[in-house]
Amino acid sequence: MGNCLNSSSAKVDATLNSRTSGISKGDSKTSSSSGPSSMTISNYSGGSSSIDSICTSRSEGEILSSPNVKPFSFMELKNATRNFRPDSLLGEGGFGYVFKGWIDESTHLASKPGSGTVIAVKKLKTEGFQGHKEWLTEVTYLGQLHHPNLVKLIGYCSEGDNRLLVYEYMPKGSLENHLFRRGPQPLPWATRLKVAIGAARGLVFLHDAKDQIIYRDFKSSNILLDVDFNAKLSDFGLAKAGPTGDRTHVSTQVMGTQGYAAPEYIATGRLTTKSDVYSFGVVLLELLSGRRAVDKEKIGIEQDLVEWTKPYLGDKRKLFRIMDTRLEGQYPQKGALAAATLASQCLNIEPKSRPRMSEILAELEELQSAKNDSKDHRMGSSPVPRSPVGHRQRRSTPLGSPLNTQRQSNTQVV
Ligand SMILES: Nc1ncnc2c1ncn2[C@@H]1O[C@H](COP(=O)(O)OP(=O)(O)OP(=O)(O)O)[C@@H](O)[C@H]1O
Ligand SMILES: [Mg+2]
Repeated sequence: MGNCLNSSSAKVDATLNSRTSGISKGDSKTSSSSGPSSMTISNYSGGSSSIDSICTSRSEGEILSSPNVKPFSFMELKNATRNFRPDSLLGEGGFGYVFKGWIDESTHLASKPGSGTVIAVKKLKTEGFQGHKEWLTEVTYLGQLHHPNLVKLIGYCSEGDNRLLVYEYMPKGSLENHLFRRGPQPLPWATRLKVAIGAARGLVFLHDAKDQIIYRDFKSSNILLDVDFNAKLSDFGLAKAGPTGDRTHVSTQVMGTQGYAAPEYIATGRLTTKSDVYSFGVVLLELLSGRRAVDKEKIGIEQDLVEWTKPYLGDKRKLFRIMDTRLEGQYPQKGALAAATLASQCLNIEPKSRPRMSEILAELEELQSAKNDSKDHRMGSSPVPRSPVGHRQRRSTPLGSPLNTQRQSNTQVV
């Protein structure tokens, strides 16, 4: 069975106004600056599982008639967002714009701004079949999956060429906005840990489900935050059912986001839950350093967060060099070193040596409780931690590997 979806997401936050990237119909696009870009590298086929069969064996009509998601008319969403007014714009991604809107709780009809339920409406650019496939996959997965650390899909609209998705509104936006935008207050260490834990819980839920799911697009822009900084995963357009039976992996067309995708997945198309673990490691590095996975505005090795941070992650005397200066030293040395060690393990070149998400979650929770017990959170004041999960192994991707080639390139090949 082929892929449930074959498109890729691309990533721009209009409010950042610094990146443009995208992918569609086989043309190459470039990222203007520091943001990640999506990629589709080679063609692989095969892989099957029960959720994939939900994608393919259920008709579109069956998926869309799920009682969990409400169909909206285009007019309803137009009214709810006040005609998709620019001042309702929350952000822009590779697939379209996201607007803030208001609906009545019971009738779901548009309500006055400030009254009723706040929603986020993603309006897909009408770019044809691939966008539609990903839109449908999102409805398929999020229509069925419910968890406090997954964003809630309220409904959808499919009218003519228009494809929209209606989500619960996440007042604090994406983690990406908080880490890399100049505007918001820098996230304190405890909040970063809380966000990492919330996101890890979301992945544990997916990986440990009876019908395992590989998320495939874990990155800071897909981690949305509620008013209390509880993290929720969004964007299931690339999600893929995990292997079943004796299979160890799913073979698939390589898709994801530059800088976050696991090297073996890029090289072989073999997808496992450990691909998500790698991406989680990259986001941990972003949380520690306040730097993007790929930053074209930096020079040399510093463009590549994984490569740049590698020599510092296990060294308590050097770690401060990569820590986010916006933290102003307000973090526990022990906790930071443990988180860095954990990131290093997630980034192990050998997927089997990476910890499972449940182990990572347990370690992060331990760090959180240790932090709560600790009185002095300043750098340089705490003892060195033990290695969090097993023996730490450094990732050592050779230069010139497919990973490096892809991560340094903004070109996507379909
Ligand atoms: N449910 C939501 N509530 C509040 N803001 C949201 C919501 N969904 C998305 N956003 C905002 O819209 C922005 C764009 O989201 P979108 O998912 O379209 O793009 P992206 O994650 O940046 O890139 P990609 O297309 O690769 O997913 C997010 O960064 C966030 O700021
Ligand atoms: Mg997104």
